[in-house]
Amino acid sequence: MRVMQLSDFHLRGDGELSFGVADTVKGFRLCLDHVKGLDPQPDIIIVSGDLADNGNPVAYEMVRKGLEELSPPVYVLPGNHDKRELMLTMLKGFCPVKEDIAPYICYTLEDNPVRIVVFDTIGQGKHSGYFDPPVQAWLEKQLALYPDKPTLLFTHHPPFTTGMGMMDEPFEGVEKLEAILKNYPNVRLCCGHIHRGIVTKWAGVTTITTPPVSMTIDLDLSPEGGDTFVMATPGYTLHHYFDGQINSHFCLIPSQATFSGPHPFAGSENPH
Ligand SMILES: [Fe+2]
Ligand SMILES: [Fe+2]
Repeated sequence: MRVMQLSDFHLRGDGELSFGVADTVKGFRLCLDHVKGLDPQPDIIIVSGDLADNGNPVAYEMVRKGLEELSPPVYVLPGNHDKRELMLTMLKGFCPVKEDIAPYICYTLEDNPVRIVVFDTIGQGKHSGYFDPPVQAWLEKQLALYPDKPTLLFTHHPPFTTGMGMMDEPFEGVEKLEAILKNYPNVRLCCGHIHRGIVTKWAGVTTITTPPVSMTIDLDLSPEGGDTFVMATPGYTLHHYFDGQINSHFCLIPSQATFSGPHPFAGSENPH
């Protein structure tokens, strides 16, 4: 079973370049064309947040049209640059949220060799992660249903610290996430937001952040680091389940990347 994780399109929807340099529409198109050309195709595609850059409805319309071009089933979750209510309406078919947890974008995908659980870590208007009590209760209940099944758990914000100081913000409720995950070593936690591929272990579970489709964060492991990006090659992660194990491959999307930068993330928006 092949589960593709795309992340961080950051589409503006106004025709402007992000931060004056990043053509995120072009990056999104490169990504779509690359995915369409893959053989074999992934079985499922999950997009782990920051689909839009500032919650513009035009951006969600571009996302909807683009994702509808893909053959495998596609699912989405929100990042700090997204508007949850617009995703629930404009991308309804890509986020099968049940009444008991709406409007949080949390859901599970069952009946596959690997179980997929998606949960929402956004606090509207915040850049950092927020593990809201209703989501805590939902996740605890969901993971308890199939404790021994290999499970890919997707969200936007990673709970671990990266060493890039500006990205290591407080994550409200993270202690509760740690307490829950300690009981489920079969889970792999797969996040976006960091715009770099990182692998670590957190709360006893293998945890990754995926390379982004747009804007790779410059690797500056200092207290001031994490606030600039380079125009590097776009990427994604392919989680491959076979022979009883999950291998997470960091993959590249061929492009004419210039690696220009570092460029500042000045004036970044987290919409309410
Ligand atoms: Fe992002
Ligand atoms: Fe983010």
